[in-house]
Amino acid sequence: MRHRTVVSTVVSTVVSALCGALALALPAQAATSGPSGHTIVFGHRGASAYAPENTLSSVQRAADLGTDWVENDVQRTRDGALVVIHDTTLARTTDVKRRYPRRSPWAVGSFTLAEIKKLDAGNWFAPRFRGERVPTLGEYLGRLDRTGQGLLLELKQPELYPGIEGQTLDVLGRAGWLDRRHLTRRLIVQSFNADALRTTHRLHPGVRTGFLGSPPVSQLTRYAAFSDAVNPPQGAVTAAYVAAVHRLMGPHGRRMRVDAWTVDSAAAALRLVKLRVDGIITNRPDVMERAVRPSAAEAA
Ligand code: G3P
Ligand code: CA
Repeated sequence: MRHRTVVSTVVSTVVSALCGALALALPAQAATSGPSGHTIVFGHRGASAYAPENTLSSVQRAADLGTDWVENDVQRTRDGALVVIHDTTLARTTDVKRRYPRRSPWAVGSFTLAEIKKLDAGNWFAPRFRGERVPTLGEYLGRLDRTGQGLLLELKQPELYPGIEGQTLDVLGRAGWLDRRHLTRRLIVQSFNADALRTTHRLHPGVRTGFLGSPPVSQLTRYAAFSDAVNPPQGAVTAAYVAAVHRLMGPHGRRMRVDAWTVDSAAAALRLVKLRVDGIITNRPDVMERAVRPSAAEAA
């Protein structure tokens, strides 16, 4: 048993080192920055100010606005399918109460995929989105394959879904999202749950990860062992905090990044850019693009 543990540790260390070397071999921009080398704008749950959050319409709207990255939330149905939805209940963003009035509190994990697929996930936002469905993670990745966007994938409350880290990696792998191009340019996995990120890093050391929160500076080195980014709420961001994160190297041998959320005003975006954040997670990606890249917006 001990022999197996030692072998597995050695294998994991070697894989980790190879992944670190791979990242180091890439141009800095590819692994840490957006196409312009500036602040990355992530569409939060898609372009969720303009379309129902976490739906394919929301992804498409973000793409139409020229947003290179979208953020989503992944959970699991009762029969084991991965679906993209933020709340742990279906009540706010679908018509589940009307369709299944006796199933309170309508937890995502208590419905099968077939049941969830019957729900309308668009009409609550605006009547023109009636008929929108809760997407599976596979369907969501398929849409991103068409738009070419990157994905900031949040494991939402993974403590409710044992094994969801490995299952998510399986889905990503089957969809072709764990090749070198996706790992270095198009995928970051984030969570409020540090254990889930540790597990993700252990299972696939090549995947970049981000911890959602603002751990005390004294604890940041612990996070640098398994997380490439610290993603704080915007109110927690100070110049000193960003500098403290930037002083650390993440598990791929690169400076850790800071991606702040959820930022919808140009004034707030400019404050964060001055504080040197690397990314802004927003419901209004068009507003953020204009704020952080005014010359590009003028030229367009
Ligand atoms: O990406 C940051 C943000 O999504 C974290 O909060 O509740 O919107 O998932 P929440
Ligand atoms: Ca989220």
